[in-house]
Amino acid sequence: MNTKIIKVDPIEPDRSSIALAADIIRKGGTVAFPTETVYGLGADAFNEVATSKIFEAKGRPRDNPLIVHLKGAEQLGLVSFANEKIMKIGKIVWPGPVTLVLPRAHDLPDTVTAGLETVAVRVPAHPVALALIELSGTPIAAPSANLAGKPSPTTAQHVIKDLQGKVDAIIDAGETFFGVESTIVNLTVNTPVLLRPGALGIEELEPIVGKITIPQEARGYSESEIATAPGMKYRHYAPAKKVVLAGNRGIYLKILEKSMECGRPAAICSEEMKPAIDDLGIRNIVIGRESDLYTVARGLFSSLRMLDEIDADFGIAQPFNENGIGLAIMNRLRKASGHTVINLPDELPGALNRQC
Ligand code: TXA
Ligand code: MG
Repeated sequence: MNTKIIKVDPIEPDRSSIALAADIIRKGGTVAFPTETVYGLGADAFNEVATSKIFEAKGRPRDNPLIVHLKGAEQLGLVSFANEKIMKIGKIVWPGPVTLVLPRAHDLPDTVTAGLETVAVRVPAHPVALALIELSGTPIAAPSANLAGKPSPTTAQHVIKDLQGKVDAIIDAGETFFGVESTIVNLTVNTPVLLRPGALGIEELEPIVGKITIPQEARGYSESEIATAPGMKYRHYAPAKKVVLAGNRGIYLKILEKSMECGRPAAICSEEMKPAIDDLGIRNIVIGRESDLYTVARGLFSSLRMLDEIDADFGIAQPFNENGIGLAIMNRLRKASGHTVINLPDELPGALNRQC
């Protein structure tokens, strides 16, 4: 398949370029496009064949449902049953990085919802995404535009690496704004439940939707047998190389020091931590600044992808505080490490499955 690359300005995208992509969506094709969180791989949400192509391109298991992207809260009725309370919530949080799980409308194909009685919906805040949905004239079903299990794409280059030749078009509008995916809350239960922490912190969401239950899985701790968001049970966000996460900041440098006996480590760390790591002579990938967790979120997935590009045997990641967007960062790091979180340097050989 020949993948068309369409370059546009992220803030004032050329409408005729977006119209090309919209035409592909209308005809049942697949288009990767930027949102304010990460790039998504989109298809017409009401076209069963088109939405099937998303699963094929990504190698995504069919029982993992897609998020439906709308151009505004007024489209909620097309894909879900939304009462006045939900409508009100939608109008506050959207456009923005929040996904609401709602009762589904019945004419949505089962490919999108994986046969569930619910549907995940959001209105993205990216000008390119909004123009694409509008010009396509239909809601767009889109998961993140990465190969299943890999870190989500925050640049068109990431999408090209994973999906070139497997999708009809990729819209390149540079780096996404947040760098981690949307916050997902289930509103079909009495007390809203956090299914995935994301770009909007729950501290900001609770005043809008009320008290939110946070299951341990949503923090990124080990997956339970019965997953609440179907996607949670799969290996996620993981580079090919092994990542070990330090259980606390205080032990990080000691773990790094020990790791030099185990092979060639790469530190996945903050700018603040870098000087001390340089002193140890360990190569490092700086994610962002601890003092501004938004920079960490933005750099997170490219740092994880970078690990596979460089001359290192494994990555040792630093933990961050879990306030605001930090909860999403730690969720992704726990998953990227396959829940390999250690609190003592002596745990490294076991964690890496290496003699050291
Ligand atoms: O920021 C984002 O949310 C990006 C952009 C492209 O919008 N999308 C994204 O999609 O991250 P994806 O497919 O990578 O993650 C969606 C998650 C999956 O874990 C899936 O299982 C869950 O949402 N999900 C979808 N529909 C659901 C439903 N009806 N009930 C519970 N979880 C659902
Ligand atoms: Mg994803």
